[in-house]
Amino acid sequence: MRLFAPLCCLAAVSPVLGQFGNNGAPFPNVTYRTGVSPNPAVVLGAQSNQISPPRYPSPWGSGEGEWADAYVKAREFVGQLTLEEKVNLTTGTGWQLESCVGQTGSVPRLGFRALCLQDSPVAGLNVAATWDRDLAYARGEAMGLENRDKGINVLLGPVAGPLGRSPEGGRNWEGFSPDPYLTGQLFATSIQGIQSTGVQACAKHFIAQEQEHFRQTPEARAYGFNITEPGSSNIDDQTLHELYVWPFADAVKAGVASVMCSYNLVNQSAACQNSYLLNQVLKNELGFQGYVMSDWQATLGGVSSVLAGLDMTMAGDIVFDDGISYFGPNLTIAVLNGTVPQWRLDDMAVRIVAAWYFVESDTKVTEEPNFQSWTFDTFGSTHFHVGPQWGTELVNQHVDVRREHGALIRKIGAESTVLLKNNGALPLTGKERLTGVFGEDAGSNPLGPNGCRNHNCDTGTLIVGWGSGQAQAPYQVSPDTALQNEVVSHYGSYESITNNSAITQIAALARRTNDVAGVCIVFANADSGEGFVNIENNFGDRKNLTLWQGADAMIGNVTKNCNNTVLVIHSVGAVELEAYKQHPNITAILWAGLPGEQSGNAIADVLYGRVNPSAKLPFTIGKARSDYGTDVLYTPNQPVPQFNFQEGVFVDYRAFDHRNLTPTYEFGFGLSYTNFTYSDLTITKLDAAAYTPTTGSAEPAPTYGSVDKDPSAHLFPANITRIPLFIYPYLNSTNLSTAYGAAGYGDNTFISEGALDGSSFAHTPSSGPSGGNAGLWDPLYKVCVSIANTGAVAGAEVAQLYVSHGGQYDPVRVLRGFEKVFLGVGEKKQIEFVVRRRDLANWDTGAQDWVVRDGVKVVAVGASSRDLSLTGTLE
Ligand SMILES: *[C@@H]1O[C@H](CO)[C@@H](O)[C@H](O)[C@H]1NC(C)=O
Ligand SMILES: *[C@@H]1O[C@H](CO)[C@@H](O)[C@H](O)[C@H]1NC(C)=O
Ligand SMILES: *[C@@H]1O[C@H](CO)[C@@H](O)[C@H](O)[C@H]1NC(C)=O
Ligand SMILES: *[C@@H]1O[C@H](CO)[C@@H](O)[C@H](O)[C@H]1NC(C)=O
Ligand SMILES: *[C@@H]1O[C@H](CO)[C@@H](O)[C@H](O)[C@H]1NC(C)=O
Ligand SMILES: *[C@@H]1O[C@H](CO)[C@@H](O)[C@H](O)[C@H]1NC(C)=O
Ligand SMILES: *[C@@H]1O[C@H](CO)[C@@H](O)[C@H](O)[C@H]1NC(C)=O
Ligand SMILES: *[C@@H]1O[C@H](CO)[C@@H](O)[C@H](O)[C@H]1NC(C)=O
Ligand SMILES: *[C@@H]1O[C@H](CO)[C@@H](O)[C@H](O)[C@H]1NC(C)=O
Ligand SMILES: *[C@@H]1O[C@H](CO)[C@@H](O)[C@H](O)[C@H]1NC(C)=O
Repeated sequence: MRLFAPLCCLAAVSPVLGQFGNNGAPFPNVTYRTGVSPNPAVVLGAQSNQISPPRYPSPWGSGEGEWADAYVKAREFVGQLTLEEKVNLTTGTGWQLESCVGQTGSVPRLGFRALCLQDSPVAGLNVAATWDRDLAYARGEAMGLENRDKGINVLLGPVAGPLGRSPEGGRNWEGFSPDPYLTGQLFATSIQGIQSTGVQACAKHFIAQEQEHFRQTPEARAYGFNITEPGSSNIDDQTLHELYVWPFADAVKAGVASVMCSYNLVNQSAACQNSYLLNQVLKNELGFQGYVMSDWQATLGGVSSVLAGLDMTMAGDIVFDDGISYFGPNLTIAVLNGTVPQWRLDDMAVRIVAAWYFVESDTKVTEEPNFQSWTFDTFGSTHFHVGPQWGTELVNQHVDVRREHGALIRKIGAESTVLLKNNGALPLTGKERLTGVFGEDAGSNPLGPNGCRNHNCDTGTLIVGWGSGQAQAPYQVSPDTALQNEVVSHYGSYESITNNSAITQIAALARRTNDVAGVCIVFANADSGEGFVNIENNFGDRKNLTLWQGADAMIGNVTKNCNNTVLVIHSVGAVELEAYKQHPNITAILWAGLPGEQSGNAIADVLYGRVNPSAKLPFTIGKARSDYGTDVLYTPNQPVPQFNFQEGVFVDYRAFDHRNLTPTYEFGFGLSYTNFTYSDLTITKLDAAAYTPTTGSAEPAPTYGSVDKDPSAHLFPANITRIPLFIYPYLNSTNLSTAYGAAGYGDNTFISEGALDGSSFAHTPSSGPSGGNAGLWDPLYKVCVSIANTGAVAGAEVAQLYVSHGGQYDPVRVLRGFEKVFLGVGEKKQIEFVVRRRDLANWDTGAQDWVVRDGVKVVAVGASSRDLSLTGTLE
């Protein structure tokens, strides 16, 4: 099976160069968005078959700023390496050949260990619902510590792609929010938390993999879809910058060590070999100093990917366990035959080693991997995929790395539970005469908390979605267990039914609960996950926005009989709730997301008022699916499916505001058991230097050490045992034209214009080391408001600041600040938002820079995107 076909390297094919190859020429028209209206036909820049402009050479790391020390060490180290040793750093050794889900080669001669890369990010969605940077940091740190103690160097998260263009997107829950500002803030603090432990974070997936359908050709074909390439996300340049790249700028600013490119194509060029995305946007504009790794099997070309900015290929092999690689020996050959210049390989190696020093892995990660990803057995094959004849060893030491993190998980679970409706039903007292609990989603999975591998089933309560973003649960406290314990501790009566088909019993228990003025609590869910798993024809992405497990009928039979019904939703994102919002017998609704192993304890904390809910929706819950104006493409529209992002920046609440549609619950909405009032908005203009577009160009690309051009110096060493299918850096033959091993050069014959030129590259106007032009981050305004707790209990409020940019094609408003403040009864505090230049800027495609356009910019502060009691203007 061959993944490669010509389309995926369009950016490296000569006709494209002929049209758009000159950096000085006007940008191809397809990257302009000239207008957006409810009629998508007028959106340019999101058209089928539009192409990504080539940008070469690949910028070499400057090692400026916070990265300076790491670069000094990395350059010195790389200067000692041979060609094969450098190649080893860039190439995974193959799927299931070593302990970790991804593992690079090593440099035994100098004691540099193989880097261990491991899933997973779990539910960023719930972190988003907390709107709490401190909790995001704490979670990141906790994950970092656990990973470090397992011997992991690179944690493959957090996630800001998918951003959440469509609520149906299967992996939205791995990330944070469809709002790029909220995502960017929590993405950055998560990264800082992870990297404080010596473990590298990996900002993924770059970029615009907004649906699972058609992300990979073989996967889609296995599902019976006849596609020839992964789908292409067609995006205009302004939307790319203002929406999808935005949080990645925060990540780079936060010092993220690595970035993972995604499976999809963007404007017909594979994300992992798209020179515009990797060379121009990530490495030039954002000044990214770390390295780019591919998603697993997302590398679709060798030389073409390397020249377009890919630094590491994962899992190393082209297709899992085919024993061949686009990197490995091919990269060694490509350097020897001159198609990859030494400076480019050196830059790849320096970036990888600098990232290692940048997070202080050298002193902080002392453990070698003490686990194996492929088995739970204690002893097993050293190289799992090839079996015991190639060695056996202690593969799993079963090290418990969790510390007291259960308490943090419980806290995040409660702090991320959004109270959507409350007719005075909550908090519960615990003294209810009878508590009736209903729903499969309240109970345990009879197969056990890890009974479905990768959580690839929706059985029992939902604590996480499926796929590589999930994690093994050490236990699972179900709502049924926690609520029963609670009620029993108050000497109350408790009955639960977790079989949604037991309609007779459900109706009877609801009626009995009603008769004694008790409380009925119903649990329901909706699941999604990664594309390699299909549950009930949900190929990763959800096929609808309704509840699963037959929950609607179950709920209907409860509400028909019980006039005090509390509804709790565990879901991967928005579900249709309008009917339940309107239902008189539903007295409260809570959205609890994917809370993890402390699920039951966390919901009990909120239901019984130990935690006063302060979470806010990190997405919009619309009345109807069609209201979002975006959706997954479920059926290929071409052999290379075309995802046309015709909505531009108008996703989620921006779409509802733009089209003046009333949602069920708006973005940023969430109730409390107390009330808050906002007052006293003041705006202070700060002294900031004028914005200076970056000019100039880079010094020539440095090289470190020299390459022995004699092919015989790079042959497979006689003294090592060759593990089958393992990816090594060595040559099989001194004849370079046959050493690559298979017929045909395929994708590697064409070298884009300027790609080999290491003399210089021009800095783009918005560029700067680590996050882009420093002026973008300058604070321009301080906005202060006072918030008072005017209710009867202490609680926290998430105050939100929105900006209206005021342009004809701008969203009505966009989130540009949030602060969570805790207030005792009667307490009043002043809080401060800082508005930075980038918060007020638009991306100008013509200028290829951010501009703050003239005109009045309005700020509004309040409790949600539609509850904004205070407004002011910025001059
Ligand atoms: C953009 O280019 C296409 C051909 O590539 C052309 O048909 C179209 O008219 C151009 N649009 C504009 C606005 O220039
Ligand atoms: C490349 O990495 C592999 C796996 O870690 C190791 O066995 C081999 O010795 C390395 N080669 C070189 C040249 O360092
Ligand atoms: C799949 O699509 C390709 C390209 O459109 C076409 O040539 C081929 O016949 C199709 N195969 C099947 C089995 O339909
Ligand atoms: C080099 O890459 C080509 C695809 O471009 C592949 O066919 C070949 O097997 C690779 N060689 C090795 C040794 O991995
Ligand atoms: C150089 O080597 C690479 C990797 O094997 C190959 O793809 C490319 O076609 C070769 N180029 C030349 C000019 O031999
Ligand atoms: C709910 O039902 C109970 C029992 O029938 C009744 O006493 C109570 O008044 C009802 N409450 C409402 C709000 O209708
Ligand atoms: C939506 O999908 C879920 C999961 O496959 C399914 O249980 C449910 O019945 C579907 N809803 C409708 C209205 O078909
Ligand atoms: C009660 O459950 C039955 C069986 O699933 C279903 O047909 C019926 O519509 C439900 N009743 C209500 C009011 O939802
Ligand atoms: C609400 O519950 C009561 C029982 O207390 C029932 O009589 C009534 O029909 C229910 N209302 C609806 C709209 O289902
Ligand atoms: C909050 O305010 C509303 C009306 O402004 C009032 O009905 C409600 O009782 C208050 N809630 C609390 C908990 O003080």
